[in-house]
Amino acid sequence: MKAKALTLCFALLPSITLAAPPSVDPAMLELADQSRCLTCHDVDETLRGPAWRDVAKRYRGQPEVEEILVKKVYEGGGGVWGNDYMSANKRAGIDNIRILVRWILTLP
Ligand code: HEC
Repeated sequence: MKAKALTLCFALLPSITLAAPPSVDPAMLELADQSRCLTCHDVDETLRGPAWRDVAKRYRGQPEVEEILVKKVYEGGGGVWGNDYMSANKRAGIDNIRILVRWILTLP
């Protein structure tokens, strides 16, 4: 019984060690795509805008920034990550932006 459990353990090991980076919620990526965020953003890579994991890291433990970021994404803004400017995303809708910002801030 013990040996069997051990074999199972080794069988699972490679798939676990290869499963990096951590997976992302496909429904959220879909919403981000529909909201046209992905033309400038990626979860892991910096494009025109900062990688969303970097955004999460920067604001970790600061829940009060959520509303500020929602407003910034909605209206557009710059000056935090470099010289580029994020244009307004009003067509995405404030509710979708709130859902996305909340999700971005919880990314590991
Ligand atoms: C036209 C390109 C573009 C699009 C489209 C875009 N962004 Fe951005 N985004 C940027 C840039 C550039 C920055 C960095 C702005 C700065 O330095 O203050 C940024 C910054 C951000 C930040 C961090 C803001 C801060 O002050 O730290 C968040 C969160 C964000 N974007 C989310 C979104 C979401 C969600 C969407 C889709 C609704 C979106 N972005 C669409 C270019 C874009």
